[in-house]
Amino acid sequence: MGLYKWWKITTIWVIISFFLSSFIEGYSHIHDHRSLEAFLTKHVNNKIQKPKTGVFYNISLGANYTGMEITVVRLRSVSFYLKGVNHSFLNVPSHVVPQPNRKRMALVYENFGNLSSHYYNVPNYTLVAPVFGFLAYTSSETSFIDNEKMNLVIQRNPITIHFSGHVGFHARNNTPICVKFGDGGKNVEFKNMTKPYVCEANSQGYYTLVIPYSPKEIPHKKNHSITKRFNNWWVLGFVIGFVGLVLLVLIIVALVKAAEKRKLRKMERNSERGEAFDTFWIGETKLPLATMIRTQPVLEN
Ligand SMILES: *[C@@H]1O[C@H](CO)[C@@H](O)[C@H](O)[C@H]1NC(C)=O
Ligand SMILES: *[C@@H]1O[C@H](CO)[C@@H](O)[C@H](O)[C@H]1NC(C)=O
Ligand SMILES: *[C@@H]1O[C@H](CO)[C@@H](O)[C@H](O)[C@H]1NC(C)=O
Ligand SMILES: *[C@@H]1O[C@H](CO)[C@@H](O)[C@H](O)[C@H]1NC(C)=O
Ligand SMILES: *[C@@H]1O[C@H](CO)[C@@H](O)[C@H](O)[C@H]1NC(C)=O
Ligand SMILES: *[C@@H]1O[C@H](CO)[C@@H](O)[C@H](O)[C@H]1NC(C)=O
Repeated sequence: MGLYKWWKITTIWVIISFFLSSFIEGYSHIHDHRSLEAFLTKHVNNKIQKPKTGVFYNISLGANYTGMEITVVRLRSVSFYLKGVNHSFLNVPSHVVPQPNRKRMALVYENFGNLSSHYYNVPNYTLVAPVFGFLAYTSSETSFIDNEKMNLVIQRNPITIHFSGHVGFHARNNTPICVKFGDGGKNVEFKNMTKPYVCEANSQGYYTLVIPYSPKEIPHKKNHSITKRFNNWWVLGFVIGFVGLVLLVLIIVALVKAAEKRKLRKMERNSERGEAFDTFWIGETKLPLATMIRTQPVLEN
């Protein structure tokens, strides 16, 4: 096989593995979010077996999620509709209808804290606040959080999310923009703030504030953007490993071929000198006769 052909095959494989890694990354991201959600509901239900209605419970998620804050409350749906809820970063006004219609519901508050950029990022923007999330579930006698997610239908005023007190440094003229994340952290939606550090939310989900990415303002973010594509290290490992393997195979093939060539040339040279092989002639062609051993081994002693 010519070196050119090998080169072509390597290039194709590198391209394929690149797309494969992007796919795996996208998939594992969605997987990350789903498994976190599943873990969270299970964890809450285990920790708090008999929740009191209207009491806000802070839940600690354990070592793997240090820095993340979870608060859960069980409410009567009627009270939620008539009075709304104003707690922590979330202000739900009255006249927000939780669907489907159930007697009780659970509201989950998530503050991703310093884990925000692990789970979420916005290309070409820098997070200047933690990611805040809120989700509504049905709640029953048997479990704090049921498997059934609720839909919040806003009849009058919108839900607001308040970031003040949680906003990091940004230049005065660089006004943050509200971001809502879609499923698995993809499909971001941008919206202007309605008041300083206040975002309107027309549905449950995950929100934060961003500013357009500028290397001047946060120099260390540059490093982050390189690793962003590969923020699952094993994907990076996979790609590096794969490319390494291809290179290794290429090197081995090249070495073997070089060695063969050298051997062949040596044979030729030797046969010309008539040392290694007996030769015989067919017409004009001189052929080596390799079947015979020229020097018989001599036994010592
Ligand atoms: C829950 O956590 C919040 C924020 O860390 C804190 O302000 C609040 O006092 C905590 N509430 C309880 C009941 O521990
Ligand atoms: C934390 O993560 C490690 C490795 O991913 C896992 O083995 C361990 O079970 C996790 N612990 C908890 C409490 O989730
Ligand atoms: C987040 O902050 C907590 C302390 O608040 C720390 O223990 C944890 O290691 C931090 N996690 C990351 C990923 O920086
Ligand atoms: C919600 O609570 C905050 C304090 O936590 C308060 O400043 C604000 O006025 C309240 N909003 C409403 C609409 O009650
Ligand atoms: C980010 O910015 C770069 C350079 O300005 C541009 O090429 C790229 O398309 C942008 N990415 C997104 C997702 O907008
Ligand atoms: C958001 O605000 C900027 C100015 O700060 C303005 O140019 C832009 O049109 C606004 N976008 C929307 C969707 O209102």
